Amino acid sequence: MTLSTDAQTLQPGLEPGPTRRLRVAAVGDLHVGEGQTRPHRALFERVSDDADVLCLCGDLVNFGKTAEVEVLLDDLRSCRIPMVGVMGNHEHECGQPETVEKMLTDAGVTMLSGGRSCEVGGVGFAGGKGFVGGFGRYMLSAFGEASIKTFVQEAVEDATALETSIRSLRTERSVVLLHYSPVVDTVVGEPPEIHAFLGSSRLAETIDRYDNVKLVLHGHAHRGAPEGKTNRGVPVFNVALPVLRTLGETHYRVFEV
Ligand SMILES: [Fe+2]
Ligand SMILES: [Fe+2]
Repeated sequence: MTLSTDAQTLQPGLEPGPTRRLRVAAVGDLHVGEGQTRPHRALFERVSDDADVLCLCGDLVNFGKTAEVEVLLDDLRSCRIPMVGVMGNHEHECGQPETVEKMLTDAGVTMLSGGRSCEVGGVGFAGGKGFVGGFGRYMLSAFGEASIKTFVQEAVEDATALETSIRSLRTERSVVLLHYSPVVDTVVGEPPEIHAFLGSSRLAETIDRYDNVKLVLHGHAHRGAPEGKTNRGVPVFNVALPVLRTLGETHYRVFEV
């Protein structure tokens, strides 16, 4: 899939980078369990032939257990291209997200969190896990109980970290990785009652402030729709593995940026 990078006036300070398009493979929600044997070996072996970089959009393991991550890493070591990743909510379940993130980092995955970003082949990669809160006019606001205000404050701080990550890049073409969805489009298909727990428009509002973001990738909404766009028209793709399987893609989806 080729994404439009129509000529536009560059933002001051942005660098156009190489004209060659980068092949970006993406998948999320592998949900590796500790009893599995090489569940995704084929994915990590094949992707090196099909793409220049692999984006991992969170929920790579089921509960964030060390033993699960070891199963994942046994497959992941077959990958011969750069890997960029974000954490999912499932990596937090056991209460040791820092351990999971360090294991992935030590295995060669550049983990985007805390406002970090990176560059591969002249294309920028920004992102983070993201957070919940709902979409559009129905997004939860900081009103009423202190607990609601604390919750909304976490969503605001999360969006601020995403902004730091995007703003630190000087690339004319950037990709944003998230676990939670920034738009409602790609959660449609899930029960409407849980849409607000699948992502937040705060993420899209942040993304839309930056013209150099050309592609947004996320997971988490297993029964959601494969694609949508932000208000500014930035394409958003849900690359949760269960969604990719509905498209006949058994491992990952590849985009050209
Ligand atoms: Fe998931
Ligand atoms: Fe998730």
